[in-house]
Amino acid sequence: MTGSTDCRGVPLSTDDPVLIAELERIHEDSLAMRGDPVADVARLLRRQPDFVFALCFKAGMLTQSMETRVYPDLVAAVEAAEALWARANDRERGHIRAVRAWVEGDFHGAVQHWDGVLVENPRDLLALQLVHLTGVLLGDITNQRDCVARVFPAWDESVPGYGYVLGYYAFGLEEMRDFSRAEECGRRALALNHKDAYAIHAVAHVMEMQGRQGAGIHFLRERAPDWAPGNFSNHLWWHLSLFHLDLDQVDAVLRIYDDQLRAADPSGDRYQELDAAALLWRLTLLGVDVGSRWTALADKWAHAATDTLYAFNDVHAMMTFVADGRMDLAHTLLTANERYVEHAGDANVAMSRIIGIPFCKALCAFARGDYASTVATLMPLRYRTHRLGGSHAQRDILNWTLVEAALRAGQYPLGLALANERLGQKPTSPQNWRLRARALDGMGRQTECSQALAKAQSLLAA
Ligand SMILES: [Fe+2]
Repeated sequence: MTGSTDCRGVPLSTDDPVLIAELERIHEDSLAMRGDPVADVARLLRRQPDFVFALCFKAGMLTQSMETRVYPDLVAAVEAAEALWARANDRERGHIRAVRAWVEGDFHGAVQHWDGVLVENPRDLLALQLVHLTGVLLGDITNQRDCVARVFPAWDESVPGYGYVLGYYAFGLEEMRDFSRAEECGRRALALNHKDAYAIHAVAHVMEMQGRQGAGIHFLRERAPDWAPGNFSNHLWWHLSLFHLDLDQVDAVLRIYDDQLRAADPSGDRYQELDAAALLWRLTLLGVDVGSRWTALADKWAHAATDTLYAFNDVHAMMTFVADGRMDLAHTLLTANERYVEHAGDANVAMSRIIGIPFCKALCAFARGDYASTVATLMPLRYRTHRLGGSHAQRDILNWTLVEAALRAGQYPLGLALANERLGQKPTSPQNWRLRARALDGMGRQTECSQALAKAQSLLAA
């Protein structure tokens, strides 16, 4: 077998330096979250259809989209790679096994194969990228950090791509609530490459979790020229809007929504639609009239009502349907999911059964004003929400819905307990103090209510 290595010394079965350099450039685009790496590698593969690792790269990238519309391309890439098994090296075979596991619905098995590749090849940046990002998709919080920790000593500034490794480590540490190390790693990554959108994102997460709203707004706005042109911009706009929302700057939030999260393209961008739904739902919980925005978003989500591919998508689709009064679509989504968990055997079944379907039912109850049912459904879920995937910041929507439902149901002692819990984590949040004030008001504890409102006001004034 012929072969060579990439710029990090990781073996490849091809020995054409031009092909290797071109794939490296495409991979760099995916790490930097810019351009269209899947389209670029497809073009490369049309020229060189037997480039095994390019097929592994294409299939690996496609696993991350969690959309049914990419599945034919994903399966075709896996099958093309399998047809080249004899010429593939051991590392590439590990990647092929991983994407095969993925198309068979064994997402956790895929991670095990990529992790296995990393044991032998700790500088395999594609395997590390896919393990880390799949950890985010599946809510496997510990491995988001530890996949980097296991290989970290094999990396330093002399190895191309080191900054991206720091960015992954930063996010994994943040999700494990190791905030100071997370921010240090994120800022080290940014010192190497100030345009690293994932490292910017990791630092923004630290600020979100620590309730540093003003600093978060300054950090993201100051760096907008670095991240706004890239493929991750909608999510970073969403993060910026969260800081504004906590400070009750609703006009700024709506401006971000209208300018950045409301693409005119009806074919849609799923990641943008997720952020859009997550933002509008938070505004709805605050009682903000968002006009016709839900209707336009529901039109985009409508075709996904029967996808049953990823519970995280389904709960955001459900928020959109119930908020827009599209109860027919809400019913279709629930029915499709209930049928799916009865008959399917993929990794998303557990996510849907444990979190996705109950959360969807709780959202339906919330929409029809049955807040007591929302509380009863969400209370047992709250410490299992990581099974839904995403980040702490994204999954906070469940706990925020729960406390809002408790207050609207008149369950003020529970509302107070939940507001106190939120304040324990983020005492600088004016919205958390307002939740506490509403609970105290409901309990007739007016002096404490006034104190809580004054605290919210003082934080807003600061
Ligand atoms: Fe995020």
